[in-house]
Amino acid sequence: MTDQEVKPEDEIETTGHEWDGIKEYNNPLPRWWLNIFYITIVWSIGYWVFMPAIPYWAPGGWTYTEGIRELSQRNKVAGQIAEVTAERAAHRDEVANLSLSQIRDSEELYQIALAGGASSFRDNCAGCHGSGAQGFTGFPNLNDDDWIWGGKLSDIEFTIRHGIRWEDDPDTRYNEMPRYLADEFISREEVYQVTEYVLSLSGLDHDAEEAEKGKTIFANECATCHADDGAGMQEMGAPNLTDSIWLYGSDREDVFETIAYARNGVMPAWQNRLDEGTIKELALYVHSLGGGEE
Ligand code: HEC
Ligand code: HEC
Repeated sequence: MTDQEVKPEDEIETTGHEWDGIKEYNNPLPRWWLNIFYITIVWSIGYWVFMPAIPYWAPGGWTYTEGIRELSQRNKVAGQIAEVTAERAAHRDEVANLSLSQIRDSEELYQIALAGGASSFRDNCAGCHGSGAQGFTGFPNLNDDDWIWGGKLSDIEFTIRHGIRWEDDPDTRYNEMPRYLADEFISREEVYQVTEYVLSLSGLDHDAEEAEKGKTIFANECATCHADDGAGMQEMGAPNLTDSIWLYGSDREDVFETIAYARNGVMPAWQNRLDEGTIKELALYVHSLGGGEE
């Protein structure tokens, strides 16, 4: 037997519901529970009055009660954008008339130029170079200090202004690696051999015997652009082949493909698409990403 107390049925009100002799007590809700319930009701009314809250349909589309504090995220963002745009326009004019080093000498202008450059980069460059400028296969990473065409501020500005292999710009950076197999400059076997040699330059797994034969081919065919030691030449836009940074991939097949058919990536010229101030801001921004040279 348990010593649980048994309540006489007539002491507590029942709801009158009964199922097979089981009656439903009409117990009141606990006081604390009710109090919290009332507080939430009062709170919701206050919230509704002050803050954006209830969506409703009005002719013209969906809208919502805005609340007397006018705290809509959209108003806030619109306000911020208007502020920044006005500020940037004023500074961009200023930036356009100064040299890159003058801009860098003014801490305030420099910071604003970097912010402007970051936002123009997202709008114009991120599609190819990635939103963090990290690059993709065929599109160089702009954060590192491995530069195909040069990492000085003036080099970067020139690249942005005139593009790379961009037909419409007479000053564009230009140089074409020959298509060694496609245009039959060397035989397929020789392409294999020089591929092994290129792999050996950066310490990748390679066939030493073939690489040795490839070495001569490299000296005859490739050194004019990539330098005798394979370290590349920025005047030629010929990448360093001795480091571990690869624009088109370091797998044997990738390297073979590059040598056999060449790649010759294209980057648009921006001088007729963007205003002077924006180009300078972009140059400063890219230069600041980590690999900029003095
Ligand atoms: C349509 C794609 C595309 C767009 C858009 C683009 N780029 Fe490029 N960019 C390239 C390619 C491809 C290369 C490498 C070309 C080569 O093989 O030499 C390159 C190279 C560069 C280089 C030279 C890197 C080095 O190592 O010397 C810089 C600097 C650069 N881009 C900056 C920019 C900036 C700034 C923008 C935006 C205004 C931009 N790019 C937009 C495709 C693009
Ligand atoms: C006329 C100049 C020139 C010659 C000669 C030349 N290259 Fe290139 N090479 C380039 C340029 C420019 C690039 C990079 C630009 C591009 O293709 O987008 C390049 C890129 C490469 C790459 C890709 C590097 C990477 O990071 O993915 C390899 C590999 C390469 N060359 C190997 C060779 C070999 C091997 C030879 C000789 C058989 C050779 N090149 C001859 C100009 C040259």
